[in-house]
Amino acid sequence: MPRLDPRLRFVAGRIRSQVHADIGSDHGHLLAALLATGRVVRGIAIENKPTPLANSRVALARYACDVRSGDGLEPLQPGEADSLSVCGMGGRSMVEILTRFPDRVPDHVVLQPNQRSDLIRRWGLASGFHLIDEHWVGDHRLFEVLEFSRAAADVLSHDDPAYEGLDRSAAVLLGPHHLRRRETKFVERLCEERAYYQGLQVLTPASRERLDAIERSI
Ligand SMILES: C[S@@+](CC[C@H](N)C(=O)[O-])C[C@H]1O[C@@H](n2cnc3c(N)ncnc32)[C@H](O)[C@@H]1O
Repeated sequence: MPRLDPRLRFVAGRIRSQVHADIGSDHGHLLAALLATGRVVRGIAIENKPTPLANSRVALARYACDVRSGDGLEPLQPGEADSLSVCGMGGRSMVEILTRFPDRVPDHVVLQPNQRSDLIRRWGLASGFHLIDEHWVGDHRLFEVLEFSRAAADVLSHDDPAYEGLDRSAAVLLGPHHLRRRETKFVERLCEERAYYQGLQVLTPASRERLDAIERSI
């Protein structure tokens, strides 16, 4: 079984299901670990590039795992997987993948964006997925991991309880669970980010919005 880095180890710890799909499987380590430890019974690895696809095939050959070539959710049928992970891409790419085939998104989704987690929170609010938890993980470099669950059909998507009582625009940018927990490393990050923006001569509208949200939240 491959040793997972702290980022993927954390993601693996959030997944337990019958059939799990991992988009952008690359080295195949996440699914190999999930299958080797019995956290999932069957896996579906999806890759859109030849070398990572070949690497996934080698890493996953001895497990109950399909390795499929294709773009995002295109090779997955509706209802085929119970859970989904997408790790190590930008938030914008992840949202493109999730919105292209909305009926193929499983009920439980774990995402580890390298940037723009705000876009992912907006996707959850617009698509009826509640943000059930979010964490910063890692040793030197910190990564964000967000976990979503499909809301019941009669619950309005914008009624995600994670945002209840919070400054919504700050919560979308910075994370509602982070704002509630106010962990030391999260507040330290906000202070560092505030200092960075305050040192800039000119702020873009997006940076201004983020700085304002940070100042309202610290
Ligand atoms: C930076 S790697 C991350 C690998 C692994 N998920 C991890 O977190 O360690 C991103 C992988 O996603 C694949 N990828 C990017 N866009 C994709 C898409 N639309 N469909 C399938 N795979 C994709 C890339 O080929 C690459 O192997």
